[in-house]
Amino acid sequence: MHSIEELEQYAKDHYIPIARKALVLFLIDLVKEKGYKTVLECGSGIAYTSIQLALLDNVYVDTFEYYLPRFEIAKQNIKDFNLEDKIKISEQDIMTAELGKGYDLIFIDGAKRHTIDHFNYLKDRLNEGGTIVVDDIDLKVTEKIERARKRQKYERAVRETKEFFENIEGYIATYMPIGDGIYVVSKK
Ligand SMILES: C[S@@+](CC[C@H](N)C(=O)[O-])C[C@H]1O[C@@H](n2cnc3c(N)ncnc32)[C@H](O)[C@@H]1O
Repeated sequence: MHSIEELEQYAKDHYIPIARKALVLFLIDLVKEKGYKTVLECGSGIAYTSIQLALLDNVYVDTFEYYLPRFEIAKQNIKDFNLEDKIKISEQDIMTAELGKGYDLIFIDGAKRHTIDHFNYLKDRLNEGGTIVVDDIDLKVTEKIERARKRQKYERAVRETKEFFENIEGYIATYMPIGDGIYVVSKK
């Protein structure tokens, strides 16, 4: 795929979750405003967000996708956009990744029931002055889930995630109603 519109259409046609447009715009503004250069993403999907961030000057993205078919599509998309030198994609569970360096922006957009684990695993990789953005905080996501048991699990995960960020110590966590709801987290 060679355009952002094509990525959006593909995601729609194949029911693949991608970040909301408003969130991508927020991330782009954040990166530009703060002069961030390095991004770590948990959950590449089809590389919709990582491509848009890596199109910015001097921005480099490390992204992880553990679902092989999606990883393959993301890898091809990165190639189609000629961003192979700016996006490093790994077919791996980010929780098993050895992350040697620090990042200016960490975007957590993986499996929602593991958001707290992802945060705890990745938080020490944040550079001084950096920001962690956590996606899909709101219940809107859960409304789409039809099976009652699955919905209950989701709702519990959402509740626990909110409680976690509302009570977090040592960080400033701000909820913002962007896309499906995000927390913007920085170190105190
Ligand atoms: C909502 S999609 C990501 C969308 C993408 N961030 C974007 O902005 O377009 C979530 C993706 O995260 C992947 N994922 C979930 N947990 C993961 C983990 N621990 N490590 C790597 N990938 C993960 C899923 O397979 C799924 O493709």
